[in-house]
Amino acid sequence: MSVQALENEAPFASRAFAKDAEGRAQHGPDASGSASTGADGKPIQTVNLGPLKLKNRYFLAPLAGVSDWPFRMLCREMGASMAHTEMISSFGLVHGGDQTLSYLERPADERPFGIQVFGHIPEILAAGARVAVEKYGPVDAVDINMGCPVKKVCCNGAGAAMLKDPRLVEQMVRKLVEAVSPLPVTVKIRAGWDEEHKNAPEIAKACEQGGAVGVGLHPRTRAQLYRGRADWDLIAKTKRAVGISVWGSGDLFTAQAAMRMLRETGADAARIARGACGHPWIFRELLALERGETPPEVTLTEWRAMILRHVDLAVADKRGLYKIERAADAPPRRAFRENGGHVHEELNEQTAELAAIRELRKHLLWYTRGRRGGLAFRKLAPTLCTVADVKAALDRIFPEDGSVPAEVAAEPAPREMTAED
Ligand SMILES: Cc1cc2nc3c(=O)[nH]c(=O)nc-3n(C[C@H](O)[C@H](O)[C@H](O)COP(=O)(O)O)c2cc1C
Repeated sequence: MSVQALENEAPFASRAFAKDAEGRAQHGPDASGSASTGADGKPIQTVNLGPLKLKNRYFLAPLAGVSDWPFRMLCREMGASMAHTEMISSFGLVHGGDQTLSYLERPADERPFGIQVFGHIPEILAAGARVAVEKYGPVDAVDINMGCPVKKVCCNGAGAAMLKDPRLVEQMVRKLVEAVSPLPVTVKIRAGWDEEHKNAPEIAKACEQGGAVGVGLHPRTRAQLYRGRADWDLIAKTKRAVGISVWGSGDLFTAQAAMRMLRETGADAARIARGACGHPWIFRELLALERGETPPEVTLTEWRAMILRHVDLAVADKRGLYKIERAADAPPRRAFRENGGHVHEELNEQTAELAAIRELRKHLLWYTRGRRGGLAFRKLAPTLCTVADVKAALDRIFPEDGSVPAEVAAEPAPREMTAED
């Protein structure tokens, strides 16, 4: 899955800092979403995921290359009640690939912990998920990816290619349900393969028949990739077609848009994807809206703190804070192949920091995008290699005292962000 899909400017249209006279971080009312009520005095709506009761309807969507444990942690702290891993190859799990196993790294208190797996052979999909559950658990929920549009996944018949064959979908889901029972199984789907084959309701029924407790729908076809508008009507149609939970996603770039999707479609939950990139506060905003409150704006102080914390977590990740110990009976490591897989690098303290900042650059650009100073920061980004570099760049472009440096003064002031952005 390409991070190019995140290069679209529209979702990240301008963001301004809250006027924070004291210069202190404002923490949103009850970002954790616990013990609270909605606008009409009703409790914040929860979602049942099999035996699990999720404390609210706002989830971080699986995002390849993005939703690692540091980012999931930040989103959960802002209120996301569920955050699956990115898609994990069932073949990789069966073969015990180091890169594959790294997707399972997380702190012990990340619960519920949901993984997403993909593959095209029912037995391998089931076996891979079992490896994750039995050897690298605890795992609380398993999601199957039937939405990935990229060629190297679809050409094998996995990801969105599964949508072409509802019978195989049912079989696939049933095998996985049996393999990981009693864990709840959900399925991530798209609208269909292309405009002529928009069969999401039919696929959702096949998932239900197979024993899934929910489907997450990104209502774009595989042919659309990330272009065009997400067809929320299809979420409503899919919801009407099945008795299991339906989670909507697609163009949920602001909390207001996600609330509108939930209202218009009757979906049980919103899976926030690109809208959370550079803006984990979206979950706090969703909870505030559900309570009938005006979402607190992000202050400069908390914005800087979030970025610096993300940087620290990313470095800790690369230094192996939650490194997965290979199971004693895991297959021996396979040699690196030029035509596939990842080079296995042992990182020391210093190379871990360099690798972390290199990978984090995309997040840094998302945090700064749409803000006054974002253009100046973008120019500096390729030169950032260490934690100290990032801190120095923030101090230079977004100083703590809120002043506007000369090199930023010429940038247009941000306008208010609306639900349409
Ligand atoms: C960079 C990127 C990586 C993604 N990776 C995954 C993935 O691993 N598994 C998955 O089910 N969907 C993945 N998706 C799809 C998102 O979860 C989501 O359904 C999609 O982006 C639509 O939501 P949005 O328009 O609000 O971004 C990915 C999307 C992007 C942009």
